[in-house]
Amino acid sequence: MDIFHRREFLNRSAILAAAAAASATTVTAQQPVTRATNAQADKLRVAVVGVRGRGMSHVNGFLGKNNCEIVTICDCDEAVIGNAMKRVEQVQGKAPKYEKDIRKVVTDKDIDIVAIATPNHWHALMAVWAMENGKDVYCEKPATHNVREGAIMLAAARKYKRICQVGTQSRSNPGMRESIEYVRSGKIGKVDLAIGLCYKSRPSIGDVGLKMGDQQPPKTMDYDLWCGPAPLKLPRRNTKNGTVHYDWHWIWDYGNGDLGNQGVHEMDKARWGLGKTTMPHTVFSLGGRFGYIDDGETANTQLCVFDYGPEKMIFEVRGLPTSDYKGAKVGNIWVGSEGYVVCPTYSSGIVYDKNGKEVKRFSGGNDQLHFDNFVKAVRSRRYEDLTCDIAEGHLSAALCHLANISYRLGQELPLAQIVDAVGPDANVKTFATGMLEHLKTNKVDLDKTIARVGPVLPINPKTERFEVTDKTLAEKANALLFREYRKGFELKDIA
Ligand SMILES: NC(=O)c1ccc[n+]([C@@H]2O[C@H](COP(=O)([O-])OP(=O)(O)OC[C@H]3O[C@@H](n4cnc5c(N)ncnc54)[C@H](O)[C@@H]3O)[C@@H](O)[C@H]2O)c1
Repeated sequence: MDIFHRREFLNRSAILAAAAAASATTVTAQQPVTRATNAQADKLRVAVVGVRGRGMSHVNGFLGKNNCEIVTICDCDEAVIGNAMKRVEQVQGKAPKYEKDIRKVVTDKDIDIVAIATPNHWHALMAVWAMENGKDVYCEKPATHNVREGAIMLAAARKYKRICQVGTQSRSNPGMRESIEYVRSGKIGKVDLAIGLCYKSRPSIGDVGLKMGDQQPPKTMDYDLWCGPAPLKLPRRNTKNGTVHYDWHWIWDYGNGDLGNQGVHEMDKARWGLGKTTMPHTVFSLGGRFGYIDDGETANTQLCVFDYGPEKMIFEVRGLPTSDYKGAKVGNIWVGSEGYVVCPTYSSGIVYDKNGKEVKRFSGGNDQLHFDNFVKAVRSRRYEDLTCDIAEGHLSAALCHLANISYRLGQELPLAQIVDAVGPDANVKTFATGMLEHLKTNKVDLDKTIARVGPVLPINPKTERFEVTDKTLAEKANALLFREYRKGFELKDIA
């Protein structure tokens, strides 16, 4: 055994030993006895889970507000907790408890609310564990890592009578709510097209893993806990965010690409504006990871089409530098027979008539409103009071997952051929052509570069499963609606 392989063997052995020990500690649901049931009068005790990035907004969203107290900070990497611990101590006058292991947080009877800001592959399992133990949950977007998880979270919320808000915070902003109301009012005529844009430049994360293979997780981290339900594999990336943090978004085991990162916000708004509360009839997606070769696996450029017959949703991800589309880069456009509405931010909208003349503007809102809305619903015990209940969060995340499934099952074609491959719809052809122009501007060779062009997959909105006549394709597509969960981290159906 050479040095490299010996070291790898030792690392793997150590990790697997830790895994065996960890999987011995499973979560058994306790009777829901926390004070959330009589929270009307009481202080609400909050645990924030995952505090390196977005979790700090959770800390600030609860800290000193709405009679909440942050009692626990949970993160499996003790190197990242400093800011959160300090901030809570400054405001509350005493440091919160630090807990590395989520399993101890969800079974702690002195916690009412679990706020989850971990990577996507952990959201559903943590949320369900928390809800079956009587906690209410604020869960970051995307609510889920795969489609089936959403139905399980929803069933858990209803069965255990828990409040579960999903972190697509635009839903609480008056500027966005008024824009959506306008789209749905009939004032821009019949709306048959919703466009979602995630034009956000994402540079290469480097190709260390491709060249060198497995990398080490930080020594300060319980990596077994970080992997949780995902396979226990050493990281194969090493970027400015270290080997593990943040860039998991671009690795299928943990993330969902930019569709499930920034994109799920705009996916959620697109669907909300059309007023659709089910899955679409079909989904189709194409794209690729263009412009660089790096350790990322997900597409950085993607076109997705959701057929709600007669309405359509078109979603485009551009991860290379680009100009805007009708004034929006990360935003939405709804096209009606008499005009259109552009929402270029989470809290603003501009109405145009069909000649492009501005008619009206809406604006207003901030992230805090979404936390306020959640706490209000925790106190009222009515999930109907939430602006983004898990039922909504599930559907919007599912749209991202469905498109990724079509993309992942796609056939390889030179980029130059994609306009012919997208079918007859003129709007879809326009977007495919625009995508090629954008890639050409970024010096991508359209003849020599291969895109992945997915199949059009029919969906049964009742069963939330694909109904494809080709049996092999149906099997492959339906398998991607769920995942294999690691021993000790299984997500079970809610009876
Ligand atoms: N709503 C928004 O506007 C918004 C903005 C940014 C991120 N997000 C979402 O927030 C989540 C976190 O994103 P991020 O950018 O902060 O990622 P990150 O990788 O920077 O931070 C995630 C943190 O979770 C911790 N963690 C991982 N597994 C854990 C476990 N088992 N127990 C406890 N802690 C664990 C990590 O150690 C890390 O500190 C993602 O789901 C992301 O989509 C939402």
